[in-house]
Amino acid sequence: MKGIILAGGHGTRLAPVTRAISKQLLPIYDKPMVYFPLSMLLMSGIREILLISTPEHLPLYERLLGDGRRLGIEIRYAEQERPAGLAQAFVLGRRFIAGDRVALALGDNVFYGHGMSGMLGSVASRQSGATIFAYRVSDPERYGVIEFDADGRPVALAEKPERPRSNHAVTGLYFYDHRVVEIAENLVPSERGELEITDVNRAYLEMGELHVEKLGRGVAWLDTGTFESLLQASNFIQTIEQRQGLKVACLEEIAFHQGFIDTVSLLEIADTSEDPGLRTYLRSLVEQRDCDEVPAG
Ligand code: DAU
Repeated sequence: MKGIILAGGHGTRLAPVTRAISKQLLPIYDKPMVYFPLSMLLMSGIREILLISTPEHLPLYERLLGDGRRLGIEIRYAEQERPAGLAQAFVLGRRFIAGDRVALALGDNVFYGHGMSGMLGSVASRQSGATIFAYRVSDPERYGVIEFDADGRPVALAEKPERPRSNHAVTGLYFYDHRVVEIAENLVPSERGELEITDVNRAYLEMGELHVEKLGRGVAWLDTGTFESLLQASNFIQTIEQRQGLKVACLEEIAFHQGFIDTVSLLEIADTSEDPGLRTYLRSLVEQRDCDEVPAG
């Protein structure tokens, strides 16, 4: 399965901060926002990733993430000239996807929660159809909204409806089979001139092949759209990290646990890291694993 991160757009709601920098590079506490969607793809077991951003910002992502080799993955890059809609990712990424299944992660979506990696692994192993994630919010009119019938089956989708028919927002993480490219290529732009991801999901719904995973109370899906919510997201991640002494969305740690890199490579990253906190943290992961591997008795 391939993965796409969409990190374009103008980020106008966060001006003037985003006048000179891409929104998805802004920090969430101690790391760039884009680490969060990237960590979701890695936890899904995805190793081939295409990052899409504006021509202006793409070089910044390349400087940050490189070709991915140090994490045991492959990252490629593509330009989106203007924000013509989320579903355009599949049109731009057609050659990269090359007939495989593909996951799309929006560069500004931050998730945190218990059991995420197990759930992502099983969703990514689904061979056919589409999977989206629903999350209960108090302001559904700001999102794609999904409506369920009395048996909990999805029956309708609407993009930012004035009068939402449920409190379940569609989050910015989507898994599709190979048909998504053809579906996206045949979409008609919406009134706001965008190729809408909601129209892609509706196509799967109409085929009876849309799976919806409800994310429960134990998962946080954090908003990064306003200065207040950005600050809250940073405070939230800081609280968790400091209390537990564990890092959230640490790419090196996830790559190690997924088996993308071995102990030698992890220690090499630790030794060359300019961040003393990360150095100690990564070394402790290896020590921990060594302890875990001591045979009982
Ligand atoms: O975050 C989840 C929501 O994302 C869903 O509930 C909605 O159904 C979906 O349409 C989308 O809504 P947004 O209003 O958040 O979309 P927005 O236009 O803000 O774009 C989301 C991110 O993707 C943002 O960081 C900018 C980037 N983007 C957006 C567009 C339209 C691109 O890179 N290229 C684009 O063409």
